Amino acid sequence: MEIVESVQEMQQHMASVRASGKTIAFVPTMGFLHEGHLSLLNEGRHRGDVLVLSIFVNPTQFGQGEDFEDYPRDLKQDCDLAEEAGVDVVFAPSVAAMYPSDYATEVNVSGITSGLCGASRPSHFRGVCTVVTKLFHIVQPHLAVFGAKDFQQLAVIKKMTRDLNLPIEIVGMPIFREQDGLAMSSRNIYLNPQQRHQALALFQAIALARDLVKNRERDSGSIISTVSDYLGAHSLIRIDYVTICHQLTLQPQQQIDSDSVLLLAAFVGQTRLIDNGYLMDLS
Ligand code: PAF
Repeated sequence: MEIVESVQEMQQHMASVRASGKTIAFVPTMGFLHEGHLSLLNEGRHRGDVLVLSIFVNPTQFGQGEDFEDYPRDLKQDCDLAEEAGVDVVFAPSVAAMYPSDYATEVNVSGITSGLCGASRPSHFRGVCTVVTKLFHIVQPHLAVFGAKDFQQLAVIKKMTRDLNLPIEIVGMPIFREQDGLAMSSRNIYLNPQQRHQALALFQAIALARDLVKNRERDSGSIISTVSDYLGAHSLIRIDYVTICHQLTLQPQQQIDSDSVLLLAAFVGQTRLIDNGYLMDLS
């Protein structure tokens, strides 16, 4: 497995892989890999000839007062896990390599980024779209794999890729959960035992909403109110949003149908967690 830090070296290396006719599968991450990331790498390994992982804690997607400085980092452990997962190339650039001092360009997707996480983190998706566009140009993948825990991020990246005619297939993978149901996240490490216990309420709230729908509730307002009451009964949880949206447009829905997704964001202590789930069992 190779570890590349230089943008230019990576770009040249990937151009030669492409020229050899091999398919490049790409998994962009901010590192501190967990089993959720490993499931993305596993998918990438099956879909591509060459598997590339990027590890870059992207400063431009963190707002003021957010956890950029504290975000967990462990490059050595990440590289060991990547090697075991069959990664061929790790791209781990520095902030200065990605954003030199005269850097001046941003990628902004409007509309779909304004609600949900975009409402509470106004510059977040501009940072994500900018770095993902740069990474796509550097890695030149045929396909890129993202997790569905960041449901809005996945929808935004699909839209950006379509709008900019990028010849890259965007693959979304289901949420990977701890045994008790908590969605895996690098930020779970911030939780103390009490918070970890209460964080499970996000997953339980989704299960509660699905039960209501199974019992023929179709009114979004009523489901949102039950879910909010449930989360609100937990002393360490502060709700950011509870919304039911159409899975593609992310527009709020009044009535539940097979496209409905419940999206949640909440602070558990100081840690902001997100989770989501489809409300109708389509199987
Ligand atoms: O989902 C993430 O880890 C990040 O938002 C991404 C896509 C790697 C961009 O920094």
